[in-house]
Amino acid sequence: MASTKGQVIKCKAAVAWEKSQPMTVEEIEVAPPKAKEIRIKVIAAGLCHSDLSGWKGILSQTNFPCVLGHEASGVVESVGEGITSVKEGDHVLSSFLPHCHECHLCKSPNTNLCMKLIESVGSNGTLADGTTRLSCKGKTLHHFISCSTFAEYAVLPDGFFTKIRKDAPMDKICLLSCGVTTGYGGPVKVAKVTPGSTCAVFGLGAVGLGAVMGCKRQGAGRIFGVDINNDKKEVAKLFGVTDFVNPKEHQKPIDQVLLEKTRQVGCDYAFECIGNLGVIQSALNACRLGEGQCVVIGVPAAGTTIAVDPMQLLFSKVLTGCFFGGLEPSEVPALVDDYMKKKIMLDEFITHKLPIEDINKAFESLIQGKTLKTVLHF
Ligand code: APR
Ligand code: ZN
Ligand code: ZN
Repeated sequence: MASTKGQVIKCKAAVAWEKSQPMTVEEIEVAPPKAKEIRIKVIAAGLCHSDLSGWKGILSQTNFPCVLGHEASGVVESVGEGITSVKEGDHVLSSFLPHCHECHLCKSPNTNLCMKLIESVGSNGTLADGTTRLSCKGKTLHHFISCSTFAEYAVLPDGFFTKIRKDAPMDKICLLSCGVTTGYGGPVKVAKVTPGSTCAVFGLGAVGLGAVMGCKRQGAGRIFGVDINNDKKEVAKLFGVTDFVNPKEHQKPIDQVLLEKTRQVGCDYAFECIGNLGVIQSALNACRLGEGQCVVIGVPAAGTTIAVDPMQLLFSKVLTGCFFGGLEPSEVPALVDDYMKKKIMLDEFITHKLPIEDINKAFESLIQGKTLKTVLHF
């Protein structure tokens, strides 16, 4: 095949023209990568709830029109000047959480955050030089959290991708690019759940079930899975939930229910995997006095706040949170290895595989709670 290096590529993409409006699959132009950027051919793109939040316009960093998507596997098509970590033909996962190795956050061993993430979030949908690499019908398209992977080709800034082994199935490991890793890292990397402990995971989507899988891997003794959708009950057990609880089936608030089920002791760890303000409060309330940890993993709407009873903090409960499960992109290849060794599940998350033309159907199914993970192909 003739090289496309240095040329504008015309390809298929799902374009979100306006918030909450059906997307259309269009031919878009993807400009070549500039310095410190790469261009990838996207092989498989997972749909994450954050794409839905972006589409609804409730994340601060979504600008329309744009190409959504941030959970993908792909092959490097070309690299811009100054890129040394990958070359054409390498397999990569996109990473909305970057690592630049240079900023004060990257230099700290205590956080996976990077100033480039903060810049990306505040970028109004452009790349570092203030422009975008995407256009359609003469209109500029914005990037979405520096990924925009609902397109056959994507331009990713340096640090916003991870090189991975070539023998791993791209249509499965794309899940490690966000959702599953985001959930799994909560108990494994951030809370460091201890063997025999009692955990509660609120929200059993791909993120929540990733967290359940992490709790189980850490040797948790009891794992409450909390979800308002009873369809999640069976699949939750498969991932390691020992007690499924549907808040709608109880008269009392869910934190009270969990306290009763733990003889008023509470949970050692609670993971909020929805992005619901009320649930964050319930999760903290359901934590054990003196040492319970509540980890916020779901992303609430921008500009919203939670009200926390300071007594919960005076009782030495820990309220914390993380992006990307507290993991750095460099830790993702080890997760790919774990999948290849069957130490973590990925196949079980995938309920739908659809062509990009079915993007609106995929969003609708996620809204209706009928899917766990949809993987889109082109
Ligand atoms: N109480 C309990 N469960 C709830 C509630 C609630 N009030 N509201 C929603 N849920 C459940 C849904 O029924 C669903 O099973 O939370 C689950 C959310 O799953 P998905 O929609 O599949 O979302 P997911 O992709 O897992 O992402 C969850 O993490 O990355 C972030 O932005 C993302 O905030 C989102 C969260
Ligand atoms: Zn950095
Ligand atoms: Zn995501």
